[in-house]
Amino acid sequence: MYEDIEQILFDEVDISNATDDIAQRIDNDYKGKCPVIIGVLKGSFIFLADLVRRLNIDFTVDFIKASSYGERTESTGNVKITSDISTDIKGKDVIVVEDILDTGYTLSYITEYLRGFSPHSIRICTLFDKPGRRIVPIKPDYTGIVTDDLFIVGCGLDYNEKYRGMPYVGVPKKQSKKIKE
Ligand code: XMP
Ligand code: MG
Repeated sequence: MYEDIEQILFDEVDISNATDDIAQRIDNDYKGKCPVIIGVLKGSFIFLADLVRRLNIDFTVDFIKASSYGERTESTGNVKITSDISTDIKGKDVIVVEDILDTGYTLSYITEYLRGFSPHSIRICTLFDKPGRRIVPIKPDYTGIVTDDLFIVGCGLDYNEKYRGMPYVGVPKKQSKKIKE
């Protein structure tokens, strides 16, 4: 089914272990609280589903969608919210959940946007982090797996909307300098 994957970097066990780890940390940090967990669409939906099923604390879930436009294959500073949250987060503890943190443009824009609603706190949780690609200095509070500068797919991450359901994470064969989203 996924014969056009060049290399598997992280298998289901790696991803499950990383998710277990984050869930335990969030359970500890939010004991007695009820954070609003905000998934960044579309890429975070698999990780978010895996994560919340491991949590023992109370929480609510919402989603936000952002697009960066301009040059198609690179994230740019021109981020726009294309689908907003429907929860009143004023005074609430917010955890923003992403699939991957790359240049940082998207998450820094989203967190600044959400800060405008005066939440009590905001933390960032990402399944993957590519710190070597960072342009905006933003550090996640919860990181699953730190990875290199390769373009990866699977577990919610796509290339042209493909591979999101792949249970492991790897590099598509077409990986080239041009494929960087
Ligand atoms: P920035 O650069 O704003 O972008 O931190 C984060 C968004 O860029 C996408 N992205 C990827 N998508 N494989 C993907 O499928 C990757 O290796 C990758 N790196 C960045 C992703 O949409 C993320 O939300
Ligand atoms: Mg994304």
